[in-house]
Amino acid sequence: MIPRILVLADYPEERTRSREHRPEPAIIQLEHVTKAYQTIGRVSVPALHDVDLSIDTGEMVAVTGEPNSGTSTLMNILGCLDTPTSGRYILDGRDLSALPNRQLNRIRATTVGFAFNLAQLRPDTNLVRNVELPMVFALRPR
Ligand SMILES: Nc1ncnc2c1ncn2[C@@H]1O[C@H](COP(=O)(O)OP(=O)(O)O)[C@@H](O)[C@H]1O
Ligand SMILES: [Mg+2]
Repeated sequence: MIPRILVLADYPEERTRSREHRPEPAIIQLEHVTKAYQTIGRVSVPALHDVDLSIDTGEMVAVTGEPNSGTSTLMNILGCLDTPTSGRYILDGRDLSALPNRQLNRIRATTVGFAFNLAQLRPDTNLVRNVELPMVFALRPR
């Protein structure tokens, strides 16, 4: 039930070599992340169990898995749209596990980019306005 992680692109050799001398911390780090959804009539639905994940700067990673294996849950957590039930999420050296929603919203607006596979665009306005909209929340000047 644990999603498989596929690394699609790796470091150029040069980068790998320099990292051996001065190791940088991973930009995305999950430690023992568990997610269980609370539902009415059932105690909880397990979605992620003890996930450890480390993604370096510049690394490209695809998360794939069987339906219901928890890939969307994982992406929601990585994108700060949802929080783990337990475990730690460290983004760019910052532990997000105990942050209040307000600060998570700020990080989502300024640090994370999300391209949804379902249309999440507003149909009542044009494409440029759709692109501008999240920048309003990120307090970007016009
Ligand atoms: N909001 C939710 N409430 C209750 N259970 C959920 C919710 N979202 C997902 N689940 C359950 O969590 C598990 C993982 O779901 P999900 O992350 O959507 O998997 P995937 O994206 O790999 O198909 C499934 O058993 C699913 O039914
Ligand atoms: Mg999904």
